[in-house]
Amino acid sequence: MSDSFQDFGGIDAARWSELAEAALDVRQRAYVPYSKFPVGAALLTDSGDIVSGCNVENATIGATVCAERTAIGCALSAGQNRFTALCVVTDVDPPSAPCGICRQVLAEFCEQLPIMMLHPDGHYRFATLDQLLPMRFSGLDFSESQ
Ligand code: THU
Repeated sequence: MSDSFQDFGGIDAARWSELAEAALDVRQRAYVPYSKFPVGAALLTDSGDIVSGCNVENATIGATVCAERTAIGCALSAGQNRFTALCVVTDVDPPSAPCGICRQVLAEFCEQLPIMMLHPDGHYRFATLDQLLPMRFSGLDFSESQ
């Protein structure tokens, strides 16, 4: 699979391949009894570590946590809050982009984040978070109001 990846967003193909493997692996642990839609997310930190997360559903549906936000929570809990790339794996064509809530949460930490959206068979597309969430609300809006 890794042979087909390209460089994107300053991240080389080999690194994208490592992120893809981590996202594919964690996706197997998704808790999805309701949607049966497992998602895996893997974040690359600026120190070179990979932190991953899967979606965790709940009978209330509304309490479901997406894979991307699980990964962010794991990373912050481990003392990492600077990210250089994200890979998200879903089994649809074209591979899903992060939902709106996750885009906003990701933007809190890295507005230009390069994102790979990957299908388990290896096909993928790239976008930056800035492309997915332009003209976003941010912490700057607070400081401008004071
Ligand atoms: N989901 C994610 O994990 N990430 C997204 O960005 C979109 C949706 C999950 C939530 C739920 O468990 C399932 O996919 C269907 O919405």
